[in-house]
Amino acid sequence: MKRQPRSSPRSAKSQRTVSIVGTGSYVPEKILTNAELSRMVDTSDEWITTRTGIKERRVAAKDENTSDMAAKAALRALEQAEISAKDVDLLLVATATPDMLFPATACFVQKKIGATNAACLDISAACAGFLFAVEIAQQFITSHTYDTVLVIGADKLTSITNWTDRNTCVLFGDGAGAAVLQHRGSAHGVISTHIGSDGEFTDILFMPGGGSRCPITKENAHLNLATIHMTGKEVYKQAVTAMLSAAKKALDQAGLTIDDIACVIPHQANLRIIEAIADRLKIPIEKFFVNLDKYGNTSAAAVAMALDEANRTGRIKHGDYVLMVVFGGGLTWASTIIEW
Ligand code: ACO
Repeated sequence: MKRQPRSSPRSAKSQRTVSIVGTGSYVPEKILTNAELSRMVDTSDEWITTRTGIKERRVAAKDENTSDMAAKAALRALEQAEISAKDVDLLLVATATPDMLFPATACFVQKKIGATNAACLDISAACAGFLFAVEIAQQFITSHTYDTVLVIGADKLTSITNWTDRNTCVLFGDGAGAAVLQHRGSAHGVISTHIGSDGEFTDILFMPGGGSRCPITKENAHLNLATIHMTGKEVYKQAVTAMLSAAKKALDQAGLTIDDIACVIPHQANLRIIEAIADRLKIPIEKFFVNLDKYGNTSAAAVAMALDEANRTGRIKHGDYVLMVVFGGGLTWASTIIEW
């Protein structure tokens, strides 16, 4: 059933408000620079910087799993929220690179942080997963089913990167971001959310092998099927269209205009995608929070890591309207407006 558009932020606040009461993030220590990549494949710092805005990315250690990064980000978010892991009712991990196909990475995180009272599940919506999880968290809290939801976006994309394919290997990195959502009686919080998908485009950004359809065998092991396959130009085009439409839907639903927004936190895939969106929304690029130069595209972690950095550095302040908008394989897209 379609939700009714909300007439104003005030009317949106009349129901149980859901606030982000703590954020956290984590990136692995190892930095891989463009200069280092140019010694691995036929590329250059100049090409990567001008086409994407990325200067370096983080690479997790071999024995550092998605759940390890997720747990570290989660503990930081819980600390900022001043709540114990035992208070978490629902633990959601958005990821395209789970530790294993099952059990859920969320269960591994549960064990690592001691969230013994939480129900745990993974969300599969590629780079858009964190905001899908925020929407799910919001629904459970507004319906009074749960009080405290821990939402994590975490990915170890370097584990599914084809390091011989210059079209893709320069784009990705590893990391995790987390947020604690609660109703705390404050008027500030999530005021609109929108999520969407289009299965017509499953073939422009995908990992063909490693699932039940095409298990990795001795015969196909050399084909790099368990790595990211992407038609870059088509993804670029769809990303701009989907993120623009998602941003407008969240604004309409909140009864706000783009001029009301103090900070836009977009998916951190490519600076040129962000510039195209700024241009079409007719807002200065300075309103966008960008950290992809340091981390590349970390998929579900990207917007969560950016939110935490914007929060901890004071880029977003109490009372600001913050628009987050993301896009990923699927296709999937999502947007959220928060009164911070
Ligand atoms: N270094 C040097 N040259 C390169 C590299 C590289 N790393 N990669 C590609 N090239 C070459 C290509 O081979 C091509 O050469 P040719 O003209 O001789 O054939 C040329 O550069 C231009 O390639 P294009 O693909 O046309 O380059 P484009 O300007 O489209 O930029 C890019 C490519 C950066 C991938 C862009 O299309 C893009 O950002 N797309 C979106 C990607 C994205 O956001 N993906 C993540 C989505 S989120 C998720 O779910 C993971």
